[in-house]
Amino acid sequence: MDIKTAEQRVKELHDTLNKYSYEYYVMDQPSVPDSEYDRLLKELNDIEAQFPQLQTPDSPTQRVGGAVLDAFQKVRHDTPMLSLGNAFNEEDLRDFDRRVHQLVGHANYSYVCELKIDGLAVALKYENGMFVQGATRGDGTTGEDITANLKTIHSIPLRLSEPLTMEVRGEAFMPKQSFIALNAIRDEKGEEPFANPRNAAAGSLRQLDPRIAASRNLDIFLYGIANPGPLGISTHSEGLDLLDTLGFKTNKERRVCQTIEDVITYVEEQSEKRAKLPYEIDGIVIKVNSLDQQDELGFTAKSPRWATAFKFPAEEVVTKLVDIELSVGRTGVVTPTAILQPVRVAGTTVSRASLHNEDLIREKDIRIGDMVVVKKAGDIIPEVVSVLADRRTGEEKEFRMPEVCPDCGSELVRLEEEVALRCINPQCPAQIREGLTHFVSRNAMNIEGLGEKVIAQLYREELIKDVADLYTLQREDLLKLERMGEKSVDNLLSAIEASKNNSLERLLFGLGIRHVGAKAAKILAMEFGTMDRLREVTEEELTAIHEIGGKMADAVVTYFQQPEVAELIEKLKAAGVNMSYEGPIRLAVAEGESPFAGKTVVLTGKLIQLTRNEAKERIEALGGNVTGSVSKKTDLVIAGEEAGSKLEKAEKLSIEVWDEQRFMDELTK
Ligand code: IVH
Repeated sequence: MDIKTAEQRVKELHDTLNKYSYEYYVMDQPSVPDSEYDRLLKELNDIEAQFPQLQTPDSPTQRVGGAVLDAFQKVRHDTPMLSLGNAFNEEDLRDFDRRVHQLVGHANYSYVCELKIDGLAVALKYENGMFVQGATRGDGTTGEDITANLKTIHSIPLRLSEPLTMEVRGEAFMPKQSFIALNAIRDEKGEEPFANPRNAAAGSLRQLDPRIAASRNLDIFLYGIANPGPLGISTHSEGLDLLDTLGFKTNKERRVCQTIEDVITYVEEQSEKRAKLPYEIDGIVIKVNSLDQQDELGFTAKSPRWATAFKFPAEEVVTKLVDIELSVGRTGVVTPTAILQPVRVAGTTVSRASLHNEDLIREKDIRIGDMVVVKKAGDIIPEVVSVLADRRTGEEKEFRMPEVCPDCGSELVRLEEEVALRCINPQCPAQIREGLTHFVSRNAMNIEGLGEKVIAQLYREELIKDVADLYTLQREDLLKLERMGEKSVDNLLSAIEASKNNSLERLLFGLGIRHVGAKAAKILAMEFGTMDRLREVTEEELTAIHEIGGKMADAVVTYFQQPEVAELIEKLKAAGVNMSYEGPIRLAVAEGESPFAGKTVVLTGKLIQLTRNEAKERIEALGGNVTGSVSKKTDLVIAGEEAGSKLEKAEKLSIEVWDEQRFMDELTK
């Protein structure tokens, strides 16, 4: 590719990728599958590798997390980042309204009500439409430059739809689901969980390595313009609409209210809806809509007189902790769980709460039989906040973690720098069951109908010992299980059968390689294409990939070196489980772009860059059919070095012949 063509293509890719990103992250309405985005991003990455001068700061490739920093630079805010006064009840809201009313005289005024997102305040600076700097609030006057981390938030546009120079303010946050998933992973890894989504978001944005923020699924809502004066708008709500037009993500629950009564209704409605939102809010922000009136009202030393924050009360309840149960996770981490007398908190009944690890139990001095204060961390995950020590009767029992695995009885160990205790017996049935459950889970092989209970039964009956055994399950065996009728058995068998066609990343994730989450699995699958290629990959090759660090590279190489793993993979292969990456390739076939679709291909001679088997898998994944001998039916012969009689025959029959380089070029096109 020459530089002119590259330049043109880079521009197209920026536009298309930005469009897809906007549809996905801001509008929540993707128009193409993820794999198509990934494919174009890879293409852009490749072009930028070849022509580094074409890599600009607003390139979509710049979101993945750049270089690790030594420290954050300080940023002085041109307009201070203030906080808001609080209102805790209706009376406080009416007081606020009275003050506004007095100060604006008899003029009409209205309010804009918005959700108060529970995250981290940030300021984003744009120059001529380009995102140039993002900072934390800090003490309100000086914050920290976290531009690299903020770039990993896909809903922050790197370029605006108009070349404006402006500063916008908003709240970066972690969605509830991401918080739950992150803590589950941290528990599994024996790491300290985050107390709530806000801490998780703040912790992620305060990392010097932007790859961490990139892996945390953060999001943002913009709620204001630092200096709206020159933009030709006269109300706050017009400002929010302008933010929408420019490509920012704003919260759509906002409402213009004419009176304080309407404000109170809005507050009531939103507190009802709160539990169902996919992100955390801790109140409602009420702002005077007219910008002139905002100027008139001005500020006190700390906060604007034109706005206030209604704060929701944090719901905490008292119940009895009746027992502490232990469970063993997929990686052997033993987690204690509080069994509670069922109690209603923030809209649901709670009867269990993770206690995470022994240190936490010691710290809070939690004993079996205690009356405890329970809340929902981030309003979702039940948590024991504290113990009511003065309500003890003397009957309470102290809890000690066992020295041996509650499932298999092997000695538990505490690995260096971990708070968790682990069972390190690879044959531990609890770990194997959890591993099986993980393998069939939605983001892995996605086999419906195999819940924990069925897995436990299958394992107990010795019908499955490892994940490959799932593929040899017989109808008769399944029919013998409790609560498995003909219909469920047939559904299960078809789900298992269908999972054989999954793309490689699902299998990789399902295998449960340490440090390889769903996203990393996808990167590995995309980069290396086939399982066989991955089995011989080196640490150097892995760390050369931007998103892959030393720890993961080491884990991958070590994993594939194990003879048991080799055996398992062979077993899965023999069962017919697909071992190649199918994502964008499938798409190429579907769109008729595959050079192999419907063709009969013969491989001959020695290939250098791929093994014969890998070449076969790649061609087949692209819709081709690989056969052993050349005949009139052959469409294409790929001839490596020292090709012999097959090549001669192909030439005689005037069949198209490619050398290895041409083949590789077509594969990576
Ligand atoms: S307006 C002059 N709007 O709440 C202050 N703040 O004390 C302008 N927050 O840390 C703030 N959602 O980051 C505003 N819709 C919203 C908000 C919001 C969350 C945070 C803000 C700040 C705190 C206010």
